[in-house]
Amino acid sequence: MMKKMHLNLFIHTRGHHEAAWRHGDSSPLPLTDIGYYTDLAQRAEAGLFDSIFMADQLSLRWDVKRAPRTWLEPITALGAIAMATSRIGLIATASTTYSEPFNLARQFASLDHISGGRVGWNIVTSWSADAARNYSGDDQVSHADRYAIAEEYLQAAKALWDSWADDAILDDRESGLYADIDRIRPINHVSEHYQVEGPLNLPRGPQGRPVLVQAGSSDAGRGFAARHAEAVFTAHMEKATAQEFYADLKSRAAAEGRAGDQVVVLPGLSPVVAGTEEEAQRLATELNDLADTDVGRQRLSARFGGYDFTHLPLDTPLKPGDFPDPATVEAARSRTELIVGLVEREGLTLRQLLSRLAGARGHFTFAGTPEQTADLIQDWCTDGAADGFNIMPPLLPTMLDSFIEGVVPILQQRGLFRTAYEGETLRDHYGLDRPEATGFDKTQAAD
Ligand SMILES: Cc1cc2nc3c(=O)[nH]c(=O)nc-3n(C[C@H](O)[C@H](O)[C@H](O)COP(=O)(O)O)c2cc1C
Repeated sequence: MMKKMHLNLFIHTRGHHEAAWRHGDSSPLPLTDIGYYTDLAQRAEAGLFDSIFMADQLSLRWDVKRAPRTWLEPITALGAIAMATSRIGLIATASTTYSEPFNLARQFASLDHISGGRVGWNIVTSWSADAARNYSGDDQVSHADRYAIAEEYLQAAKALWDSWADDAILDDRESGLYADIDRIRPINHVSEHYQVEGPLNLPRGPQGRPVLVQAGSSDAGRGFAARHAEAVFTAHMEKATAQEFYADLKSRAAAEGRAGDQVVVLPGLSPVVAGTEEEAQRLATELNDLADTDVGRQRLSARFGGYDFTHLPLDTPLKPGDFPDPATVEAARSRTELIVGLVEREGLTLRQLLSRLAGARGHFTFAGTPEQTADLIQDWCTDGAADGFNIMPPLLPTMLDSFIEGVVPILQQRGLFRTAYEGETLRDHYGLDRPEATGFDKTQAAD
């Protein structure tokens, strides 16, 4: 039997295309309306998606004048979405650079209880330079330091989730014992950046630990993912680089002693699906024509840590020398490598580059029929490029609906995708083991 693939819905404003918010077919609801997000989650759940995912940034982007840069804080929003759904996994982004391990360990354990074991944490180190200034710092923490901090953060967070044995709560009215304190322990974590005594002030969640998700693709990012991530989001504009990433990540995970199927790799796919290829192309062009080049330029600048691109003409072919060397970028390094590689390969003008990035910011965009979209998905999933996809509809909710109605049934007919949820938790959906809180020994416990 063919291995089943995974589908995650990446919820991003009114759709992933820069111009989605202005398009007449996108949702009329305000982006601060929880009903907008619960509705999308319910649609994805009806389509049997494994999970939904909410991204997050810790600063306001000033191009908000011409682009919707607002959303609800993900952990808070997922608490509400959990109550409006029953099976779908819920992945929230949260940063290791601007919080303490005790904060997030507690919030994610709470969400895991609230959702009945459906929560995942997209661990980010916050590439945006503006974020530092919102957290009592002037300068951005360097790329290397951010990952070093994240490493210590994860050690502490994992220890906190494991500071309770699964059977620590007794809740025995008869004997008067609420908890077996031999089954709860301090963690006494001491590292360069953190001192956490523990234990967590909350019992283990249904999944033991939330599903750990990560999306960095630099050398440091891949190393971190290989050690900790159980699902990995990644951006590719061609199959060949996705295959290289997939093979590299699985072999790095193996070198860390982890089984390949315990790290689910999900490249982004932004599909425009329509009855005919011509109609799909027409819809894609309609969206591209609505995109604003000033917004695109500002977004490009943010990716490159604030580098100024305003002097570059829109219609002259770009050269790699027009960009800072990605190795020197302290922001989203892997995405800058992707962009400079694209310019080198295809000799694009700035206008063409911005149009290519407007679709899904450097993720794979595709316009075609349901059959063609299913073929693409099957090809990547059977040719060592993906375990499934991070679906990024250009327009929400309509292009999520066309994917669910058109593509999902074909994937199901081909035996590639589930026809019903088989488990209860996000770990069940992704086929991930539940980590044990090991090492509890009644005889060594203190009073
Ligand atoms: C699908 C996807 C979603 C991401 N979501 C976020 C996010 O919500 N917040 C954030 O700060 N970074 C986000 N990132 C960026 C990554 O966490 C990471 O910072 C970036 O890919 C650069 O990683 P690198 O420095 O290891 O190359 C996302 C990346 C991808 C591919």
